Amino acid sequence: MSDAPLPTIIQLTPLDPTYRADPHAVLDDLRARCPVRHDPTSGAFVLSRYADVRAVVSDRDLWRDALNAEEGTQARKRVEENYDPSVPRAESTSILTLDDPDHARIRQPLSQALYARVAKFRPEVERIVDEALDRLPSDRPFDLMDLFCVPIPIDVIASILGVDHDRLKEFREWSEGTILGLNPFRTPAQTEVMERCGAALAAYFLETIAARRAEPRDDLISDMVRLQAQGAPLTDTELRINLGALLVGGNLTTTDLIGNAVRLLLLNPGELAKLQADPSLINAAVEEVLRFEGPVDVTGRIASSDTEIGGCPIKTHQSITTFLRAANRDPEVFDDPHSFNITRKHKPHVAFGGGAHICIGAPLARLEAQVALPRLFARFPNLKLADPDAEPQWRTLPFFRGLERLDLVAG
Ligand code: HEM
Repeated sequence: MSDAPLPTIIQLTPLDPTYRADPHAVLDDLRARCPVRHDPTSGAFVLSRYADVRAVVSDRDLWRDALNAEEGTQARKRVEENYDPSVPRAESTSILTLDDPDHARIRQPLSQALYARVAKFRPEVERIVDEALDRLPSDRPFDLMDLFCVPIPIDVIASILGVDHDRLKEFREWSEGTILGLNPFRTPAQTEVMERCGAALAAYFLETIAARRAEPRDDLISDMVRLQAQGAPLTDTELRINLGALLVGGNLTTTDLIGNAVRLLLLNPGELAKLQADPSLINAAVEEVLRFEGPVDVTGRIASSDTEIGGCPIKTHQSITTFLRAANRDPEVFDDPHSFNITRKHKPHVAFGGGAHICIGAPLARLEAQVALPRLFARFPNLKLADPDAEPQWRTLPFFRGLERLDLVAG
């Protein structure tokens, strides 16, 4: 245990080189010394123990909308910047940051339609993965992120939404542009790209909602307008915002799940061999990647009444940041937590959060990884890191863990 000052929230992001190189050295120390830490810079309580994180994300009485956060805190200031009290809250933000009753009202029909589509989507995901595999060169090194991990989730969500083939190129560009919204430290030029892409996407969604209402097809947008017609109380603006949330919430995260999985399997040939010997281990392998190197570091809640966590009093309106990454390596819960073991005894991780806000895209992300990994290793049985001694190139986007590039050779 170190006696260095406890890390502030910024030191718990990949902007900090120590954290970027090995988040768990920092998180283990924090968990051991101060598992409920009041961060002086953000004002939030930072939780790193599995039991506390699990209890908080599962608690449906806590708030999510940062408009409920204490005045003067970063979280509150950030939402207030774009807050217009004349616009209904559900028409200015997605389910990601809404509270009930709006959250339940919008999430229910969206999850009903999305889960039904995902349940029958495996053949389409296989087709999209095979198309991406065809683009990988077998005779020279290539960046797997660029050619495989980035395009697959975008093409999958485009297909679920029913984006026409001739709009796919634009749709890909807008999807990548809106992801810039995840970066609180984006440059003014990036903000310009994000806003342009966001506006184009919004116009596209509104136009498509109207088109599908007039002439339904076999896609998620048609499912949603059908549910509206059957009485689901959802405005077109709410629908448009939440279709956008599927892209922002789903693309980069699934990209990182696939990229992190490939890197881990290549670094752990014994685990890859187990998977190749017994393909039925694929679901367990994906869960172990989510536990061991999940794409998302944190999620948040806000205390809706005075409470106490691990002996620390927390007042109504105070923010709670749950470190999913730290919880998933808590030695109290996971034996030998820092070993990547696809046959470890199953214990549920918290990589998708939990409770009312648990990731709505989890079944889709799982499906994509469960299809992409076996097909990649079947197509390229001798796949290797292009330079096994090179340092991994982690992105610096706060609260996400994924690779900038993953240079491989077919072998
Ligand atoms: C491996 C991939 C993914 C990871 C690790 C991930 C992680 C998360 C996490 C941690 C949350 C917050 C949960 C909470 O606060 O308890 C979340 C929410 C959300 N995710 Fe994902 N996600 C992934 C893929 C996706 C996909 C594919 C989609 C869309 C198709 C998606 C859409 C969303 C949305 C809309 C929410 C907000 C749900 C709500 O607040 O009710 N995510 N995700």
